[in-house]
Amino acid sequence: MHTSLSSSDSQCCKVHVSLGIRSYSIIIGPDAMEEVVFADHVFGRRVMIVTNEIVEHLYFEKVVQNFREFQVNKIVLPDGEKIKTLDGLNIILSALLQGGHDRTTTLVALGGGVIGDVAGFAAAVYQRGIDFVQIPTTLLAQVDSSVGGKTGVNHALGKNMIGAFHQPSIVISDTKTLRTLPKREFAAGLSEVIKYGLIADRYFFDWIEENLDGLLDHDLNLLAYAVRVACQIKASIVSHDETEQGHRAILNFGHTFGHAIETFLKYRDWVHGEAISVGMLMAMRLSVLLGGISETDFDRLKVMLKRCGLPTSPPLLMTIQDFNLIMMRDKKVIDGQLRLVILEAFGLATVSTEYGDSNLQKVLSFHCAS
Ligand code: NAD
Ligand code: GLY
Repeated sequence: MHTSLSSSDSQCCKVHVSLGIRSYSIIIGPDAMEEVVFADHVFGRRVMIVTNEIVEHLYFEKVVQNFREFQVNKIVLPDGEKIKTLDGLNIILSALLQGGHDRTTTLVALGGGVIGDVAGFAAAVYQRGIDFVQIPTTLLAQVDSSVGGKTGVNHALGKNMIGAFHQPSIVISDTKTLRTLPKREFAAGLSEVIKYGLIADRYFFDWIEENLDGLLDHDLNLLAYAVRVACQIKASIVSHDETEQGHRAILNFGHTFGHAIETFLKYRDWVHGEAISVGMLMAMRLSVLLGGISETDFDRLKVMLKRCGLPTSPPLLMTIQDFNLIMMRDKKVIDGQLRLVILEAFGLATVSTEYGDSNLQKVLSFHCAS
């Protein structure tokens, strides 16, 4: 798809997600929200912007400026993971129905991964599917959740258990929006950035290590580079395995452990990227036991996560038994066998059932206080 930027000296760059007729561009850079000509990507006349109470105050007006020739409606959801449920979905669907929206309406997800996931799912199911645009405003959403078409909501018995694959028409990642992110949310996003180095590009990991202070200072050039490389890696993986029949699952490195932590905490207290930080260390420990990773590389990861201010141990009250019970409900369990993502080498991930339960139990003993 042709993607217009409003000026020839744009500071934005473009990453292509190659999926046949579902292909789309990711536009990355400071002021991307202003530079992209939305009218080139939105084919109907009506737009429903879904955002939350925090992001609305910060960026709604800026986005609306760019939709001047459209009829714009908005839905402002409460903040937080608690809205990523069937109830949250229902709020969006009801507003679309009450507003008389038909299949030509485009839904715009303006916010972090929570808004992107629930709004994307609403777009997937409303009248059997309408177009949607992702405008991610957290680092985690810019490097991960806005790309690849996974949409959905949580269930009390498990995270992201209800959902659909539905690709956006375009993703607009304005890296300036990251400057207003709370420090903790920014660090949580960094854990997903680090993930890409671990699973696919050890030189990117080295680069993050060298540039971490600048990234933590929100240097816009460094941020744009990090978002671009992360999106390139994700776009390449998704282009080869859109619906996660196999290789795409490597993007879930550390996530089985991390999702268990989030489920144990009932999606409260810790944010997603924090749970993934600990989950990645646990998956890294398993990879050490299986011989793909050295103790030195395990320590490098731990030091990096600590420099980001991320947690490196599971919640104190979470036991080995809690992990075992919750992990067996993971989506990656097939025929009673849990598949886990491990590193065969630094920068090379694979999905495996051959890790040996005794090794898994050693990982849990190593990381759990009880
Ligand atoms: P989030 O959406 O809750 O956003 C984090 C916080 O930052 C919220 O309080 C939000 O209101 C606030 N916020 C957002 N943008 C801001 C800005 N620019 N300035 C100030 N505050 C801002 O959390 P998240 O970390 O973005 O996303 C987590 C969710 O993403 C989880 O539900 C996770 O399961 C999901 N996820 C989905 C995928 C996928 O492929 N679909 C991948 C990874 C994670
Ligand atoms: N975040 C994992 C995936 O998109 O597959």
